[in-house]
Amino acid sequence: MSLATRYLGFELANPFIASASPLTGKLDSLKGLEDAGAAAVVLPSVFEEQLRREREAIDTFTALNSDMLTEAQSFFPDPSLYERESHRTLGLIRSARASLDIPVIASLNGVSPDGWILFAKELVDAGAQAIELNLYHIGSDPAVCGQEIEARHEQVVRSVRQAVNVPVAVKLGPWFSSFANMAHRITEAGADALVLFNRFYLPEINPEDLTLQRTLHLSDSEDLLLPMSWIAMLRPHLTADLALTGGLHRPLDAVKALMAGANAVMTTAALLKNGPRHLITLREGLEQWMNAKGYANLDELIGCMSRDRVPNPDLFERTNYMKLLDSWPMQ
Ligand SMILES: Cc1cc2nc3c(=O)[nH]c(=O)nc-3n(C[C@H](O)[C@H](O)[C@H](O)COP(=O)(O)O)c2cc1C
Repeated sequence: MSLATRYLGFELANPFIASASPLTGKLDSLKGLEDAGAAAVVLPSVFEEQLRREREAIDTFTALNSDMLTEAQSFFPDPSLYERESHRTLGLIRSARASLDIPVIASLNGVSPDGWILFAKELVDAGAQAIELNLYHIGSDPAVCGQEIEARHEQVVRSVRQAVNVPVAVKLGPWFSSFANMAHRITEAGADALVLFNRFYLPEINPEDLTLQRTLHLSDSEDLLLPMSWIAMLRPHLTADLALTGGLHRPLDAVKALMAGANAVMTTAALLKNGPRHLITLREGLEQWMNAKGYANLDELIGCMSRDRVPNPDLFERTNYMKLLDSWPMQ
């Protein structure tokens, strides 16, 4: 029984990847994930805003330096003495590469097509074997139309693709007028894989003190349906790899995601809730299920329920909606 799969050009021992989270942000927990059988890890994102702030701090310091007397300069610490957030990430990549045998994927998170993107090259120079580019965007500006946002996304992907010579995966949300078209354009722009989907973290209203509060609701298996359905719909049309993220908690969730057409599956919430060793439960559960059903390897499983291989593919689309509403049992 082989659970081997290919993702981003890597031969993975199994399809389970630990997606970006605090669990992948420290060397000892990265080692714990590898020991429990993670086939690859995605490190926490470096954010466009964070890189900008660091750049601005250096620019301010440089400007001050050129204007000030030498004595006054001594009051300001050299910014290179700060341990910058981005430097911490580069250090983590280096130590992860030195200690782990599994692929180390670095994550870059932002949406503007300009200078910060060049940081992708620094991530690769530090040892990242692939880049996951997270296009986390909320289209809340009524002056900016969808076409403009989509064109920006394409440009960011193209720029990162040009900046590095390692595989690039793109993680994004489903909220586009034509997600299938967007998926194609992102791969045309150079993405080797799509990671579906981003989970949006929206604030909660506190009606008592009239404030907004940050909330972090972890997923459950119900959340699997959206990425699973999109992977099944995209699989026949895309040659790029597909990874599912969102709602993968149980071995059967992995079975379904792979059947839909995912080359690899990612998990965070299940590991935060149950600990890294939950990867063993996932892997053994998948293996047992495949044994019981007579699947010899993942190739037999991957995509066997994609849109072009199921008897009733229209259930992925409007037909499902109409039939479902019609089938509600009225008294
Ligand atoms: C605490 C926390 C931190 C996260 N940090 C990142 C991050 O830095 N970059 C990123 O792309 N996704 C991040 N994610 C999203 C996860 O990688 C994953 O895509 C999401 O949680 C959905 O998968 P799940 O249902 O398995 O949790 C984070 C999620 C959590 C819960």
